[in-house]
Amino acid sequence: MAEVAYSNSLPPSALIFDSGVGAISIAREIRRLLPGLTLHFGIDNGFYPYGSRSEEALRPRIVEQATAMMTASGADILVVGCNTASTLALPQLREVLSQPVVGVVPAVKPAAAASRTGTIALIATEGTVNRNYTRDLIQQFGNGCRVINVPAPELVRLAEAKLRGEAISARDLAPVLARIFHTAGGDSVDIAVLACTHFPLLREELDRYAPRRIQWLDSGAAIARRVGWWLEELKLAPPDKPGASQLLTSAVDEDKKIRGAFAEFDPLNTV
Ligand code: DGL
Repeated sequence: MAEVAYSNSLPPSALIFDSGVGAISIAREIRRLLPGLTLHFGIDNGFYPYGSRSEEALRPRIVEQATAMMTASGADILVVGCNTASTLALPQLREVLSQPVVGVVPAVKPAAAASRTGTIALIATEGTVNRNYTRDLIQQFGNGCRVINVPAPELVRLAEAKLRGEAISARDLAPVLARIFHTAGGDSVDIAVLACTHFPLLREELDRYAPRRIQWLDSGAAIARRVGWWLEELKLAPPDKPGASQLLTSAVDEDKKIRGAFAEFDPLNTV
């Protein structure tokens, strides 16, 4: 990864950090709200997937990669566009970075507040499902709801496949849907929290193949609002013209494979 010198004359920008294409679900929401903001994608594809990594291995890796990518891009704000990383390393990132750090929090609070049946599902990577952070969040904001925890590592792989042009079938999603609907309490689930940034990329398919209609809730729009809030706080106004984007990856040999997935944010200049 080559370094780009930071210059204060650069237009305002945010770096969205993730292990893979999950950054795209967050970037789409930011683009909708702040179309002129320059986006840097900091993709740690050299350590993908994050979901099954141990906390001991993952925490220092996230801090090292995200801080290096912040330096390389000169971004004004770090958006940790990854629940697995946010639930693990936000305090450490805030300690080492002078720029604001926006993290993704699983949408447990709004889901629990909106549930009519009092039963919600939380779908995430194994890491996120098992984190103390997530347990505390449910304890604090679960509003007395029954929360069905659904680890779904295969959805990460399927989202990556979809963004590389593969079709996702009912059969691909059947095991995860069974873990949501055909389990104790599954008949009452009315809201599923998509607590991994890869999963909103499969919302259409989840909706199509689910045995009945429920709401699939994620945190992308809330993240975009938070970025907008920080820009005002920092007195940075993005230009009106569509923002540029840049892809930074940790595994350069994988670049070709991952690049196509980010094509909607063209022009991309890989460094
Ligand atoms: N996108 C990441 C998240 O939000 C996880 C993907 C992975 O397992 O690498 O949790």
